[in-house]
Amino acid sequence: MAFQWFKFRSKTMLGVDIGTAAIKVTEVGKEGGRWVLKNYGIIAIPDPVSLKDGFADDAISAALKELIKKSNFSSKDCVASIPSFNTFSTVIELPYLSEKDIARAIPFEAKKYIPLPLQEVNLDWSILSVKDSTSSNVQYPSVEVFIAAVPKDTVERYRIIFNRVGLRLKALELENAALIRALIGNDQSSIGVVNMGGRSTSIFVAYKGVVRLSRNYEVGGFEITQALARSLKVSVDRAESMKKKIGIEGNEGGTVLKAINTELDRLIVEGERTIETFEDQKKIKVEKIILTGGLGTMPGIHKYFESKLHYPVSVGDPFARVIAPQGLSPVIKELTPTLSVSIGLAMREI
Ligand SMILES: Nc1ncnc2c1ncn2[C@@H]1O[C@H](COP(=O)(O)OP(=O)(O)OP(=O)(O)O)[C@@H](O)[C@H]1O
Ligand SMILES: [Mg+2]
Repeated sequence: MAFQWFKFRSKTMLGVDIGTAAIKVTEVGKEGGRWVLKNYGIIAIPDPVSLKDGFADDAISAALKELIKKSNFSSKDCVASIPSFNTFSTVIELPYLSEKDIARAIPFEAKKYIPLPLQEVNLDWSILSVKDSTSSNVQYPSVEVFIAAVPKDTVERYRIIFNRVGLRLKALELENAALIRALIGNDQSSIGVVNMGGRSTSIFVAYKGVVRLSRNYEVGGFEITQALARSLKVSVDRAESMKKKIGIEGNEGGTVLKAINTELDRLIVEGERTIETFEDQKKIKVEKIILTGGLGTMPGIHKYFESKLHYPVSVGDPFARVIAPQGLSPVIKELTPTLSVSIGLAMREI
């Protein structure tokens, strides 16, 4: 006899964030109209520093396979992200045209912003808004268009990886779009997001729920660990553990801070510069800054950024939108910044 209740079992989606330091997978479903985290898993990518200039796909496939085996996810459907350093996106303004004419104009416009030949990328675009000439301050009607491009070989590599590990890849999306879904939701104000990962840090400004400006900096957790090891003359393993356990808080943290403040300050300066560029171009004030990514869990980082930046700073919390099962809560809270991208991916409705 078939179990009728099977019909009502809610469907879940996996969000797969393949980073340079670790692969993060979360499984999210909807219950009574609310997002619920069902399961999650994290696995480190072995020897990430040596993979700095690109992913070693065999190592990624093996790690992802192991993670899936261990985690017992109930779904095989997944959404994955393409890291910011591998994608290009921008918002442009065009004169008001028919959709067909916009489609024709996009490749010409895109060429100005995308540093790769157009035949080597998948180009995607969507209309964000129309400014008609009846509204104030507008002389000619125009449209705002969001353009995104992903190298075709990156898409192909992801397809191969997901095939190999036996997951159904339902969509590939830009990492920053996943962060907006997980950390910003329906907030329409202008918000700076700083995603501090292993290899790099991406900084973007979202306004009305769309990325308006984004930059990538080749400074992340790996470089900070190396700086700490060099300065304190300790092993890389010891430095990594000091960074995570002591952080830059309290007396002991003072020594760590002294060793890594040049790198942290570089991130702060770059973040400020990106935000000011947006403010100057758009004449819109950024209201707050959200920190995320693995380095966002470092004890004391939030206070340090807040003391140096002239904006309110917080650590992003995807659990403002997604309910975490009670038993998992204490561990999950610590991992929150690390899981933000994968949670946002799993929340994508297909
Ligand atoms: N509690 C912590 N304190 C300090 N640093 C931490 C902590 N947890 C993780 N990190 C650091 O965060 C980095 C990894 O972050 P994350 O998992 O976001 O990177 P990634 O997504 O794999 O990398 P990328 O986005 O650059 O490809 C590592 O350098 C790690 O040392
Ligand atoms: Mg990352």
